[in-house]
Amino acid sequence: MKLCMIGTGYVGLVSGTCFADLGNNVICVDKDPNKITQLMNGKIPIYEPGLEELVNKNFKNKRLNFSIDLKKSIKDSDIIFICVGTPTKKGGSSADLSQIYGVAKEISTSINKFKIIITKSTVPVTTGDEIEKILSKKNKKNKFSVVSNPEFLREGEAVRDFNFPDRIVIGSNDKKSNRILKSLYSPLISKGAQYLNTSRRAAELIKYASNAFLATKITFINEIANLCEKTGINTEDISIGMGLDKRIGGRFLRAGPAYGGSCFPKDTKAIISTADKFKTNLSVIKSVIKSNENRSSLLLNRVYEILNKKVKNKKITFLGVTFKANTDDMRDSSSLTMIPKLSKKGALIKYFDPTGFKKELSKIKNVSYVNSVKKSIEGADLVIIHTEWNDFKSINFKNLVRGKKFIIYDMRNIYSPTKIRGQGFKYYSVGR
Ligand code: UDX
Repeated sequence: MKLCMIGTGYVGLVSGTCFADLGNNVICVDKDPNKITQLMNGKIPIYEPGLEELVNKNFKNKRLNFSIDLKKSIKDSDIIFICVGTPTKKGGSSADLSQIYGVAKEISTSINKFKIIITKSTVPVTTGDEIEKILSKKNKKNKFSVVSNPEFLREGEAVRDFNFPDRIVIGSNDKKSNRILKSLYSPLISKGAQYLNTSRRAAELIKYASNAFLATKITFINEIANLCEKTGINTEDISIGMGLDKRIGGRFLRAGPAYGGSCFPKDTKAIISTADKFKTNLSVIKSVIKSNENRSSLLLNRVYEILNKKVKNKKITFLGVTFKANTDDMRDSSSLTMIPKLSKKGALIKYFDPTGFKKELSKIKNVSYVNSVKKSIEGADLVIIHTEWNDFKSINFKNLVRGKKFIIYDMRNIYSPTKIRGQGFKYYSVGR
């Protein structure tokens, strides 16, 4: 099968590369010529474990290629995946679909034989209907089929998530497309992935509902963790105790800082906006958004308490600033809320992240990047473990910095409180 991925961000590049690895011919298109040149030279514009090797392997064996020529790539392909961004509209909460509709217009002038047009980007309910309208203006209905096939890849685990998905959702009533797509995904179905065929609108909503539910689960345990802190209970016992109930499940019940990233904050807002359009009140998701937005202030208040309200000139270290481990992504990371507020109060902040210096933090007063854990914690008054990188899981704080004892605020509950306190450190964590 000849596939065309439009957009070489997380979704397009990972899916395209993995489809090539499954034996398909894939062309990844992007309007940014620098990105395409980089990719052709084996350089990956994003940090995603395992991706670079796969890109290079499949580029060399000619199953994977890159181009800026959208029209030709569409003409040469049977299945077109739209993988462009759907960010939150500036000053609003709905998804900005300008890139999606722009691409749809380009596709509409390049249909030379039957094509399956798939939205892999996260798009609001009825977007497929709109794409169909755009394509119908220039093409007969039997020349194309518009399908929704949402991705559920997590950053940092995207290659694994592609190859071992829990489910593959295909939103389409078109028998021919369903047959072709089932065959495209058959290598994953035979490894155990569930294959679900729904209406196109249902597939679009499955993606938003899933992300909103996961965001709700995290926010729920974060609030329970607040109660645990007041009642002397270990929130991890609660997560395990709840998670053992098969109806609940133990995943995404890790308390921590506010959830971030490119999906949960954006998609929870967008589903509210869709619901508003259809005059439906999604009150649970609204309160999740609010609770998550308040979470950084809540954790900062704890920092102020830990420092006895004396933040000025205090040396504070952030271990990890990305929104989660195994990614260089800073989008909606809670560090971007916390660090500027601490800086405003006069704190002197150092940070270390395994993915290096962050331009997002470069303009904030008294914030500096250092290139090792050791350098970052030297002379610190307070060390905040913000991201759960493996690099931070076995630090011997005592040996690393002899002499001065600092306070540790472990926002990811990596360490055992008794062990760290036993080494003479003041130690705080989340919900325990
Ligand atoms: C998410 C979805 O998981 C994925 O299916 C979708 O396609 C894209 O959005 P991603 O944003 O890459 O993936 O990261 P994820 O691992 O889901 O984490 C999102 C946020 O939730 C992070 O800030 C993470 O730290 C936080 N989180 C996650 C918790 O605080 N606790 C948890 O138990 C799990």
